[in-house]
Amino acid sequence: MNKQNRYWRAVHLIALTVAFELVPSWSWAEDRKLWQQPERVLADLHLPVGVQIGDIGCGGGYFTLRFAPITGPSGKVFAVDVSAESLKSVRERIQRDRLENVEVVQSAATDTKLPAASLDVAFFCDVLHEMPAADRLPLICDVVRALKPGGLLFLIDWRKRHEIPFDPYEKLIPREDLVQLGTDAGLALDAECHYLKYQVFLRFRKPGSPTGRLRLPGNGTGRGFYRQRG
Ligand SMILES: C[S@@+](CC[C@H](N)C(=O)[O-])C[C@H]1O[C@@H](n2cnc3c(N)ncnc32)[C@H](O)[C@@H]1O
Repeated sequence: MNKQNRYWRAVHLIALTVAFELVPSWSWAEDRKLWQQPERVLADLHLPVGVQIGDIGCGGGYFTLRFAPITGPSGKVFAVDVSAESLKSVRERIQRDRLENVEVVQSAATDTKLPAASLDVAFFCDVLHEMPAADRLPLICDVVRALKPGGLLFLIDWRKRHEIPFDPYEKLIPREDLVQLGTDAGLALDAECHYLKYQVFLRFRKPGSPTGRLRLPGNGTGRGFYRQRG
């Protein structure tokens, strides 16, 4: 092989490597948008400006970064995770996008480290099935402690179905068990969305009357929550 051929062969190999590196992450992000419907989920949270929201098990910040512009400078997003690695990438995004209303919180398995009554809304997406079963209720109880009276807890997790492509069937939690976790933690299930292809989407409410002027959905002052099937 002459020098010129070796050069083009090397260029070809580098191009192929880059393509293989990029395509899976591109398709994952695109694919997630299709089944996660993040804009529709956000719309159904009805987050008011000024809301204090905890993204519990925030991972790389998929929802944290979407919450930040909605809450605005008068609100706050707590990006909570046990994984230092995940929080590192959230911190990088916060710095890059100059987000001043996101606070990163390194939590422990059943302790969010959030102050009591600091949240209007808590949000979980695809976290509980990742945890040992025995830790789930203690973590939710800790989140309830961190919620203000009348606060909301949104819970999204995989449906327990064989066709879920992301986790083994044995890891998935039946919807009834997710509901039970919320009610055992002292919350009331008050709404549910059915349109997510792979996920259950529940809304719970902490007893008590909300204090302050924030308008949360379904408390008589805010907008309702869709109950669509499909
Ligand atoms: C599948 S990822 C989901 C990340 C993000 N919520 C999303 O929708 O992209 C699950 C995340 O939950 C976190 N996690 C697992 N157990 C946790 C716990 N006990 N407390 C807080 N985060 C936890 C993991 O570290 C991981 O980042």
